[in-house]
Amino acid sequence: MVSNNLAKLVENKQIIAIVCNQFGDTGKGKFSDYFASHWADVIARGTGGNNAGHTIVVNGKQKIFHLLPSGITEDSKGKINILGNGMVIDIKALCEELEELEKEDISYNNLMISKDAHVIMPWHVSQDRAKNMSQKSGGIGSTGRGIGPCYADKTARRGIKIADLFDKEVLEYKINKIKQFYPEQNIDFKKVLKESSPYIKKIKPFVKNTIQEIHKFKDQGKKICIEGAQGLFLSIEHGTYPYVTSSDPSINGTASGVGLNAQDVDLTLGIIKFPFMTRVGAGPFPSELGGQKSEDYCAEGLEHDINYELKTHLGGGDNKKEKITELMNSQDEFLQGVGIRLAAGEYGATTKRPRRTGWTDAVLAKYARKINGPHFIFTKVDSLAGAKKFGICYGHKLNGSTITDYDPNGKFLKQIKPEIKFYEGYSDISKIRDFKDLPEGLKQAIQDFEQFTGGKVKIISVGPDRDETIVR
Ligand code: GDP
Ligand code: IMO
Ligand code: MG
Repeated sequence: MVSNNLAKLVENKQIIAIVCNQFGDTGKGKFSDYFASHWADVIARGTGGNNAGHTIVVNGKQKIFHLLPSGITEDSKGKINILGNGMVIDIKALCEELEELEKEDISYNNLMISKDAHVIMPWHVSQDRAKNMSQKSGGIGSTGRGIGPCYADKTARRGIKIADLFDKEVLEYKINKIKQFYPEQNIDFKKVLKESSPYIKKIKPFVKNTIQEIHKFKDQGKKICIEGAQGLFLSIEHGTYPYVTSSDPSINGTASGVGLNAQDVDLTLGIIKFPFMTRVGAGPFPSELGGQKSEDYCAEGLEHDINYELKTHLGGGDNKKEKITELMNSQDEFLQGVGIRLAAGEYGATTKRPRRTGWTDAVLAKYARKINGPHFIFTKVDSLAGAKKFGICYGHKLNGSTITDYDPNGKFLKQIKPEIKFYEGYSDISKIRDFKDLPEGLKQAIQDFEQFTGGKVKIISVGPDRDETIVR
């Protein structure tokens, strides 16, 4: 059922993009699925690869996608899902995701894979794991999926495109040329070909000139939902460099990654977790609860996974929910952050790592408005039910002065302290479907946030399920 407010929001729109205005994991999957099921004919991803973990929940059932667009469960209705030219694709990982669909009897007849996307090869994964993954040993804490090395080869003009997989001569030539850049890896063309040929065969029927296809769909008047990956502050252009991913997940990089122009997009919706936010991996996070202690603790990764936290911070036993609420209301900011992580289930969809938690940063959102436009979606608002108060960061303090503009300089961001305004907390809001019924403290915070950032909140998400959604 399409609500009146949703009908108004999409009125006269042909291309809508869902991007993240924070550090990823804000609910792009939920909203790509939402627009796929209620509106779009075509769903296209434009950046990143299987570093992404996009969760959708339909009738209480959860699915996580890494490479496939989150509209894939709508395939049987004839909806087209596209892996765009800006993506980096691990074909083995892609085939594993397709096999998952097969097990669940979900069709993918209308899937399209760009012939121009780059291929993540085994040596990219090995190099990424050796150099970037472990935060403990000073790496940036990448997802270890080979993303950085693959984009590096793309930029250095020696990458392998999907189309190259179908031309043995070109592939052999390229692989033999690439060898010198990975001297420690003993790359052998014949071995690579043997290992990858089942995957190459499986994806072949879906490989297309997707740039041509998407323009055809546009000209036919089909409704297109562009699904962003990662987040603006992980962008190679706008993020907290060098603690970033290697693509540009802003609306510009995302549109270009599906073969469109950002100006073709009629509505960009930038997602913000509110009133708390998260980051996974290393890098500055000015409003992090517990500061450096939280960053170091989360850097331990799976050693501090959900089971560890339940055991250590809740001490096992009954009354789990009450104990989590107690932690969320702790006077100790680090423990408060742990409480929010437990309450909101903030553990990586791809790596299961604990996500660092902190108050939503309006300074970052103000910058995001400049790049991704003024329309916001707030997600996970329900997760903070039970917190007596919540904070929003409206300034970055350095040497006694307050800065309200974001500067993408990792070192500088590490030194600042957040300036937080507190609001009255709220109880369960997951059943609310009308904006005016939201609690007063929350509405006040939304109003202040809009005024500070110049943005406008169009949608409020009050649960993981597709329709636990308020369109304003
Ligand atoms: P993505 O990478 O942006 O697609 O986000 P992830 O899937 O990595 O993480 C978002 C998590 O929050 C998933 O577990 C979603 O099911 C869940 N989620 C999304 N929106 C909401 C919401 O409004 N409330 C709650 N409680 N969970 C949500
Ligand atoms: P979705 O699409 C959250 C982070 C990693 C690391 C940095 C670089 O689910 O929101 P990479 O493997 O890309 O080279 O890692 O970026 N990162 C993400 N964090 N959500 C994501 O994707 C992410 N993709 C990458 O944790 O800090
Ligand atoms: Mg995610």
